[in-house]
Amino acid sequence: MQQPGDRDLYRRLAPFYDMMSRGLLAPFGGDTRFRQRAVDAWDIRPGQRVLELGCGTGLMTKLLVERGATVTAVDRSAPMLARAKKREPAATYVEADLRGFRPTETYDRVVLSYVLHELTADARATTLELARDALAPGGLVGIVDFDDSARQPVRTLIGLYMRVAEPPSAREWAAHGFRDEVAAAGLVTVRSEPVGWGTGRVGLLARA
Ligand SMILES: C[S@@+](CC[C@H](N)C(=O)[O-])C[C@H]1O[C@@H](n2cnc3c(N)ncnc32)[C@H](O)[C@@H]1O
Repeated sequence: MQQPGDRDLYRRLAPFYDMMSRGLLAPFGGDTRFRQRAVDAWDIRPGQRVLELGCGTGLMTKLLVERGATVTAVDRSAPMLARAKKREPAATYVEADLRGFRPTETYDRVVLSYVLHELTADARATTLELARDALAPGGLVGIVDFDDSARQPVRTLIGLYMRVAEPPSAREWAAHGFRDEVAAAGLVTVRSEPVGWGTGRVGLLARA
């Protein structure tokens, strides 16, 4: 089942993705700092086994490996994965759609960086359940994605950006994701903090 903002979009976007990520995160202290903050909140440590869902071009994958984690990174877009492999050869990569992906191992961390907002409500629920079920005992799910906690005028600006540049699922996730959808998937919040002036949120969640 194809969905809006699908594989073809990333096939075309892949060569520009890093530039876009850096440009969009520049007002918030820069891409690397923003991502380091997420990795800090997820408490990534040497020796941890990490499953990264929707790794894109590997911008987060590289930071996870630099923290000493053993990373398995999944994405359905071959051009995005090719860039990730080049950026961080030390991770293991799997080309798969999250809606059908069933991990055969369990992990200390399952992380999702700006992926859930691209999925339909059904796919978000399935993916959050997949993340929960892939946790080893004591494992945690780390999420960074859009949120609706920004104050004015940033709130209006991010709202406009999401209407113009993101699928409708982005606004749904921003309104309900951290608030309701993680709980509906059987996850409880261990840590939750706004990032990027409230345009995003980084969360760390445990199995309920
Ligand atoms: C906005 S990018 C985020 C990439 C990366 N996590 C980051 O932080 O830069 C979203 C990524 O999720 C992937 N993606 C979206 N829907 C997916 C699905 N159903 N299955 C697998 N990957 C998916 C896309 O191919 C893309 O690489």
